[in-house]
Amino acid sequence: MSIQGLSRFQSKKVLVTGAASGIGHATALRFLDEGAHVILVDRDKAKLDDATKALAPKYAVPSLTDISVPEQVEALCKFVEEYFGTLDVLVNNAGVTAMGTVLDCDLATWSTVCATTLTGTLNVSRTFLPMLIKAKGNIVNTASVSGMRGDWNTAYYDVAKGGVVNLTRVMAMDHGKSGVRVNAICPSVTRTAMTAEAVKDKAFVKSVEDRVPLQRLGEPEDMAAAITFLASADASYITGLIMPVDGGVTASNGQPPFPMS
Ligand SMILES: NC(=O)c1ccc[n+]([C@@H]2O[C@H](COP(=O)([O-])OP(=O)(O)OC[C@H]3O[C@@H](n4cnc5c(N)ncnc54)[C@H](O)[C@@H]3O)[C@@H](O)[C@H]2O)c1
Repeated sequence: MSIQGLSRFQSKKVLVTGAASGIGHATALRFLDEGAHVILVDRDKAKLDDATKALAPKYAVPSLTDISVPEQVEALCKFVEEYFGTLDVLVNNAGVTAMGTVLDCDLATWSTVCATTLTGTLNVSRTFLPMLIKAKGNIVNTASVSGMRGDWNTAYYDVAKGGVVNLTRVMAMDHGKSGVRVNAICPSVTRTAMTAEAVKDKAFVKSVEDRVPLQRLGEPEDMAAAITFLASADASYITGLIMPVDGGVTASNGQPPFPMS
């Protein structure tokens, strides 16, 4: 779905977390297609090796990093400083989920979900912020419609993504004066490894299609297009935006359709 002729990121330095799969992989590809040099960050070595091979010979540099481990994030920052000397765009995309209510899931599960999805996002953001201030760069977070309103049975994920939504707003406010923009996209159900199990269930897919005004699931390329827009100069007066990329799901007030008489 790449738009031919666009080259908004010639030689720009971009870092994408969770880049070995799904939305992160499609986003890295889109940046590369548009001329960027991209650091692909992921904690899954096999997937990262495959992703880097698939993207060669473009300017894709892998970094095996677990963003939930502060020492690894520090080392990543040193690597980027030494390798690139600068960073123009940070895409905080890595996230993990867990099924269940607050009664189903113990505190260890909360810690696991939070360590990557919220604390990891926050820590990567604060670690790279000085470089982004120097470059007058920007951050795009992959939040979720689950951070805007609630789902049934993914309590900890929704709470963590709610944190990412407000992290986006407060960082946009605090660091706008330093020339750094901070925005978020909010995908609805998108076809990736994260949802692979669920979308095997045809009834689930049908219920999503019925619920989404555009009547289809999201694709990673839909998200990549929105992320690269927010990261581009076309969005230079946009900051603090929580942008649903959801086929219209959040346009609804949640009531079921009225019967037609
Ligand atoms: N797929 C959806 O329906 C959907 C909807 C809304 C939001 N999102 C969000 O989109 C983002 C990308 O998810 P996806 O759907 O592409 O899933 P995915 O599972 O295909 O990709 C996630 C990638 O992140 C990596 N990762 C996970 N934890 C990490 C860590 N601590 N350090 C480094 N890498 C890590 C994984 O190894 C994987 O490669 C996530 O933040 C997710 O919450 C997804």
